[in-house]
Amino acid sequence: MSLAIPLAELRPGEGRLVEDGGREIALFLTDAGPRAVDARCPHAGGPLQDGILSGTRVTCPLHLRRVDLDTGEVDDCAERVRCYAARVDGDRVVLELA
Ligand code: FES
Repeated sequence: MSLAIPLAELRPGEGRLVEDGGREIALFLTDAGPRAVDARCPHAGGPLQDGILSGTRVTCPLHLRRVDLDTGEVDDCAERVRCYAARVDGDRVVLELA
């Protein structure tokens, strides 16, 4: 299953919350292209879409752990956040949610 978000709704360097059937996803337009992860930080549920983006890492706004948007690894946390494939397709970003 995939989901398309208009590119015009995204700002480079800022996160956006995307909701789909109860699932919450944080979508980022990084310098390396779009990245998408589950929106809730695995440490304690912080809203990753509100974090500060640096490259392909986002700093969670709650306790400032850094989350790698490519691997899902979270600093000082045993759990990873789920990552989703995302690509630009014309004027949209397509997320693969399967
Ligand atoms: S909830 Fe994200 S670092 Fe604690």
